[in-house]
Amino acid sequence: MKNPFYYGGSVENEHFCNRVQEIKELKADISAGLNTLIYAPRRFGKTSFVLKTMRELKEQKVKYVFLDLMYLSTVDEFINSYFNALAKSLEDPTDKIVNFFKSVLKIRPNVNVTFDATGNPSFSLSLNHEDRINALEDVLNIPLAFAKQGQKIVIIFDEFQEIAHLNLEAKIRSVIQHHSNDVSYIFMGSKKKSTSRNVFRQE
Ligand SMILES: Nc1ncnc2c1ncn2[C@@H]1O[C@H](COP(=O)(O)OP(=O)(O)OP(=O)(O)O)[C@@H](O)[C@H]1O
Ligand SMILES: [Mg+2]
Repeated sequence: MKNPFYYGGSVENEHFCNRVQEIKELKADISAGLNTLIYAPRRFGKTSFVLKTMRELKEQKVKYVFLDLMYLSTVDEFINSYFNALAKSLEDPTDKIVNFFKSVLKIRPNVNVTFDATGNPSFSLSLNHEDRINALEDVLNIPLAFAKQGQKIVIIFDEFQEIAHLNLEAKIRSVIQHHSNDVSYIFMGSKKKSTSRNVFRQE
């Protein structure tokens, strides 16, 4: 008999079970424009649950941007990974995306587009020191610019605990508080792994 259980990354289709009530609640929060924090131990099904909800909402023309913050170690990496995730979620022709960004960014950076062997584009910004200070705020405000065009948009930050050391929380909070009702944010996270110092402590 084929093993009916999938174990690995996030699950979908026939491998995804239950979570009926949770999906209903998350959809209601999103349509009310609320921000949501999903905090649970590792392997509890956070990513699967949120992505399943988003796939269902896609039929209602809700666009979402999913950014996994695992392994991001600098603010520049955060800016560029987020910028890339935003660009890819647009699903428009590449030149249209680039022009849109140039029109909404107050800074005037070079928008770089590279293509992999299968033709998939990747987007990044060339930032000089002065730009870098303003680029974070500009990039954080991109979802609001989408939303103002009449597009319902949900931003998902997965593994949020992983960027605690970048001290971005206050900045993100101050920018996104002006996005309420237009953009919904979902922050997902788990407790950070024990460090070598407290690895023997009972949790
Ligand atoms: N709704 C579900 N139905 C069936 N299996 C599930 C479901 N949700 C999670 N699982 C099982 O748990 C595993 C982990 O799920 P998932 O990656 O979504 O959890 P997570 O909380 O995001 O984990 P991590 O903390 O590693 O990011 C899946 O590979 C699958 O085996
Ligand atoms: Mg996960």
